[in-house]
Amino acid sequence: MAPEVQALLGDMAETLYDAGGVGLAAPQIFRSLRLFIYHIPASRAGGDAVPLSAVANPVITPLDDEKELGWEGCLSIPGLRAAVPRWTRIRLTGLNEHGEPVDQALSGFAARVVQHETDHLDGIMYPMRMSDFRYFGFNEELERFPIPLPEVL
Ligand code: NI
Repeated sequence: MAPEVQALLGDMAETLYDAGGVGLAAPQIFRSLRLFIYHIPASRAGGDAVPLSAVANPVITPLDDEKELGWEGCLSIPGLRAAVPRWTRIRLTGLNEHGEPVDQALSGFAARVVQHETDHLDGIMYPMRMSDFRYFGFNEELERFPIPLPEVL
C-alpha cells in the first residue's frame, strides 16, 4: 500500500481505539476510499476473534441463505443501536494492509461487522438494513429496558 494509505490506516486505528469501536470505514473520516479497518475482541466474538485488520476493496459473498438478527451501533450515529439482519456466514475477499489478498470465511459478530463496514463504502447506514423498527433505540434506554430479539427472523 502507498505510504499515504499507511498513514491513513494509522489515523483510522487511533480514531477507532479512541472511540472504543470495532470497525471504521474510510468514508466515516471523509476519505472516499473503499477501505475499512476492524477488530473483534475475544469478549465480543461469539464466533471468530479477529486482530486489527485492514481490508481494501472488500467483496462479500454469503456462504448460505442464513441471516440472523443482532445489535449494531455506529460511530457515525452516536448513542443509538438497532437490531439488524445480516448474513450469518460470509466469504470476505479484498486486499490487506500489505496489499496482499484476503480470502476468509467469517461468521457471527465478525461477519456482521464486516457487512456493516462494507455498507459504509456504498453509503449504506445500518438503519437502512433494518427489518423491524421496534428494535431501534437509545443505548441508555436499551440498557435499562432490554429488548429480547426473536430467535427466528
Ligand atoms: Ni458504522
